Amino acid sequence: KKRIGILTGGGDCPGLNAVIRGVVKSAIIGRGWEVAGFEDGFDGLLYDRGPRTLGFDDVRGILPRGGTILGTSNRGNPFSYPVEVNGTTVFTDVSDRVVKRIRELGIDALVAVGGDGSLKIALELMKKGVPVVGVPKTIDNDLMETDVTFGYNTALETATDALDKLHSTAESHHRVMIMEVMGRYAGWIALESGISGGADVILIPEIPFELNSVCNAIDARRCRGSKFSILVVAEGAYPRGGSRVVQKKADETTAIERLGGIGAFVSRELTSCLDMDIRVTVLGHLQRGGSPSTFDRCLGSRFGVGAVELIERGQFGEMICLKGRAIRSVPIEKAVRKLKLVNPGGQMVTAAKELGINVGRD
Ligand code: F6P
Repeated sequence: KKRIGILTGGGDCPGLNAVIRGVVKSAIIGRGWEVAGFEDGFDGLLYDRGPRTLGFDDVRGILPRGGTILGTSNRGNPFSYPVEVNGTTVFTDVSDRVVKRIRELGIDALVAVGGDGSLKIALELMKKGVPVVGVPKTIDNDLMETDVTFGYNTALETATDALDKLHSTAESHHRVMIMEVMGRYAGWIALESGISGGADVILIPEIPFELNSVCNAIDARRCRGSKFSILVVAEGAYPRGGSRVVQKKADETTAIERLGGIGAFVSRELTSCLDMDIRVTVLGHLQRGGSPSTFDRCLGSRFGVGAVELIERGQFGEMICLKGRAIRSVPIEKAVRKLKLVNPGGQMVTAAKELGINVGRD
């Protein structure tokens, strides 16, 4: 009888509970294994208390729930763990403690559910002898080697719904509406929700934008009789020749950030070239919350089951993934080598352009 551990690391996203439920059910049903849930991501591996033994009762009714019943954390990297020493934070390698604890708890394998940061940590633990399998999670959809990550679809639905709502008010007031969405370095959420929500301009990090081009596009619409425009701006977008904003250290701020983010920056710049009323909506963490979509519930559940199957077959160091409609696996190492970004010359961008959407360049 095996005892497997599970943790959810990094930013939360819709569908995490489906994965947890999938792991718990498939480990218990037919296999009779025990599942230990570590709380608050990798932090939980260092707690004196826990882990929680997860049974059917713990996962009952969690499928429609957003977030993660295990909690998560962005900080608990055991290879660079923040420790307070005389009032200053010192980053220390506590991975030996973690490995020892996992052994003492009799954990035969660890399921790490996370984005590229968490999966990199999982890989390092694997190198120290912890049998690990990975499950790719992020609303940003920026992980290589899987067609899609769970959470992305729900974030898209939230963003598209917001665009529908902004459309009606933009039209009534003849306004330019800028909606800033998440995605970190990647423009997937902006591009796909922008196409689905009928945006007029989509700005993504992969295509540094030219304000003249954006201004002309909105003006051209006005000349054609469309008195409002909808812009979707990825948080990582930046002007040509400028610098990006996201993924900075806590004490670093960039010029764009000081202006309140890229949405505010674009608004300010457009004010000088357009005689129109402009409003900005930052969708923020709404994109990470809420009940997962049907797609994400199903994908999360299949990923959970797939992770248990990987453990059963002894395929450690592998990450479960989606290829086409099939669940497969790849070495975690391959998945975290670089981020999956939008191809500026690819089909999705080309389709946007053919739909008459300005992507920040002529
Ligand atoms: O990676 C998911 C994500 O939501 C990004 O889109 C965003 O840049 C970041 O996390 C926000 O992180 P936090 O929750 O720490 O503000």
